[in-house]
Amino acid sequence: MDPAAQRFGTRAVHAGQRPDPTTGAIMTPIFQTSTYVQDAVGSPRGGYDYARVGNPTRDALQANLAALENGRHGAAFSSGLAATEAIIKTVLDAGDHLICGADVYGGVDRMLRYVWVRFGVAFDFVDTTDLDRVRAAIRPETRLIHVETPSNPTMTITDIAGCAGIARAAGAVLSVDNTFATPFLQRPLDEGADIVMHSTTKFLNGHSDMIGGALLTNSDELAEGFRFQQRTTGAVPGPFDCWLVLRGTKTLHLRMPAHCSNARRVVDLLRGHAEVESVRYPGLEDHPQHELAKRQMRDFGSMVSFDLGSEERANRFAASTRLFQLAESLGGVESLVSIPSSMTHASVPEEKKKEIGLGPGLVRLSVGVEDGDDLVDDITQALAALRAGVRMPETGDGGLT
Ligand SMILES: Cc1ncc(COP(=O)(O)O)c(C=O)c1O
Repeated sequence: MDPAAQRFGTRAVHAGQRPDPTTGAIMTPIFQTSTYVQDAVGSPRGGYDYARVGNPTRDALQANLAALENGRHGAAFSSGLAATEAIIKTVLDAGDHLICGADVYGGVDRMLRYVWVRFGVAFDFVDTTDLDRVRAAIRPETRLIHVETPSNPTMTITDIAGCAGIARAAGAVLSVDNTFATPFLQRPLDEGADIVMHSTTKFLNGHSDMIGGALLTNSDELAEGFRFQQRTTGAVPGPFDCWLVLRGTKTLHLRMPAHCSNARRVVDLLRGHAEVESVRYPGLEDHPQHELAKRQMRDFGSMVSFDLGSEERANRFAASTRLFQLAESLGGVESLVSIPSSMTHASVPEEKKKEIGLGPGLVRLSVGVEDGDDLVDDITQALAALRAGVRMPETGDGGLT
């Protein structure tokens, strides 16, 4: 069957992979090698010469991720931030300008403010939910628009096709961080984006056991630029980490529906709960970009943010959950809770946090694929502990009712 005609689940399991020709191993081997034998100078025996430049396990992952995003090219990096940095190094020169979504992952904010500013890259953080503001921020030297949708942790939705049109008209490139949605829920290249970026650490791997990043594109020129960055600046993933993501993507189409339906149950509980001030989830009809989310996404994901009004209450909630573990990161099969203002986004300046609505009482949940009843019970008891003003005593049964 023509791989291009295969449906998402089939691509997730097979794209980029075939049984190993030397052994018949059904799983792509972990090519744990730093170099490859050459028969003569410049004639590598198997087409590979050095593992920073290329590795068959990495190639399989890159092809697999590209197929899932409907892209022709993929490039894997050692982290999501390394992948983001590779975009900047490929697209921008000193003196160029970048428009960055206002509420992107805190690490991108820190990278721009503390690293790229020193190399003459100009940037503006813009509320990309408002296309007029994106248009107004364009300068003659704007070369890149980078957005995250849904955004972390404020859960805003940006119109990808709208931003792609603005970027095209300005002679700029649009990159979209698709980490929260994954290609199962949203495919930015189909909407006109030039680059999709992932922290593969999250849903693509899905099991919280590695750090990685990836860039996917249909542009030959950008793909060549990303390969140049891999071999020249060297932030490539090791083969075992590539293999772990490859194993993860085989079940992406099974995990995501379970993530989404558990998130919906948690949102239904939080919404209207007396202890909760507000809930941010693009699946809610009163979410400001709900209609756009419905158009652009297949479902609404499993990241949920809600406001408990104060840091003290947010901390108390996070200390009271038993299944939801307090930790950075997201997208694994297990449920996590975090307080973005003092964890993932601690480096974002206070005034900007206020501007984007990232208050100290904001709690972010990464809803996993455990039994939904147990997740609902856990949130219920943690909210009850908040009302009682005390930490619930440990019962020793893992919080299960
Ligand atoms: C949406 C998003 N993008 C990018 C990153 C950075 O990825 P990494 O931690 O793999 O460098 C993160 C990390 O939390 C993230 O949540």
